[in-house]
Amino acid sequence: MKTDSFRGRDFITLLDWSKEEIETILDVALDLKRRRAIGEHHDHILRAKSLFMVFYNSSLRTRNSFEAGMTQLGGHAHYLEPGQIYTPALPGREVAYTTERVSDVARVLARMGDGIAIRCYGDPVDWEYGGANELMRNFAYWADIPVLNMEDDKYHPFQALADLLTVKEKFGTFKGVKFVMSWAYSPSTHKPRAVPQSAIIAASMLGCDTVLARPEEMVLDSEVIQACENYAATNGASFEVTDDFKAAAEDAHVLYPKAWAPVQLFKPPIGEDDSELAQEIFDSYKNWKATPEYLARAHPSAIYMHCLPADRGWEVTDEVIDGKQSVVFDEAENRLHVQKAVMSLTMA
Ligand code: CP
Repeated sequence: MKTDSFRGRDFITLLDWSKEEIETILDVALDLKRRRAIGEHHDHILRAKSLFMVFYNSSLRTRNSFEAGMTQLGGHAHYLEPGQIYTPALPGREVAYTTERVSDVARVLARMGDGIAIRCYGDPVDWEYGGANELMRNFAYWADIPVLNMEDDKYHPFQALADLLTVKEKFGTFKGVKFVMSWAYSPSTHKPRAVPQSAIIAASMLGCDTVLARPEEMVLDSEVIQACENYAATNGASFEVTDDFKAAAEDAHVLYPKAWAPVQLFKPPIGEDDSELAQEIFDSYKNWKATPEYLARAHPSAIYMHCLPADRGWEVTDEVIDGKQSVVFDEAENRLHVQKAVMSLTMA
């Protein structure tokens, strides 16, 4: 397909992109991966270009894959800690000489570089669902260079691209692949929904038979669920939501169990004021754990996926995550390749 239209675009959620465009990004990622494997350099693509990375939260994979990716493409990634610049803030969250309005930060950076990447969820927006996505969108409104979502409170699109690339490498197709995104137990009740939401969007958009397994309290965004149902119908595939952890795993090709927190646990009547109740609800699902017995329910060719970092011993046993069916390090590596593809297509 013609890729001229990719130039200058923001990458905030897969929902803003068509299936054909996402397939093209995966093709470019595979091409860059293969070229690197045979020692071919491609540092002309973004030579002398700058990516500004604003991290409100910690990161291992995202930071290093973007930095390495920019180096390999010939450019440079700037690491910006909100506390060390004037923290970019929306109206209503401004503090004199401590924050700087997002509209000003975005226009300053856009005068100097070629892309702005942002990670923001949780505490910086007081766990107000959608607050971080609004900040991301506001950056994109004011900056006339691409804004890349390194994870907000709704979406983690680059993780989803890396997950898709991994499925493509393992199975060669999405059609007929049973992709199970499942909640799994963690003692931490503060985890965003970005990964599971982006994973089910990605899987259903590309045509997998997608299953979302979660306890009844751990619901995901209804708009995301609606989008997945629409993609499944368009692709002639299935999309199912269940609260049966073990049954969902039957004959699955992809098992992706990880923890997340539903919005309700941070809002009245449950809310921060009753963190003990939130913990109690979480602790009642300790048996939602990726064990060898759980994996044995799946198809013999099944893969175990996790975006990492994993809560070992809670979400998953060492035997599973370190076992032969685990592809977690392929997913981590593929972050590099998909991000290089998106940066090449949008920032070159
Ligand atoms: N999966 C992921 O985004 O990892 P980091 O939090 O380490 O960036």
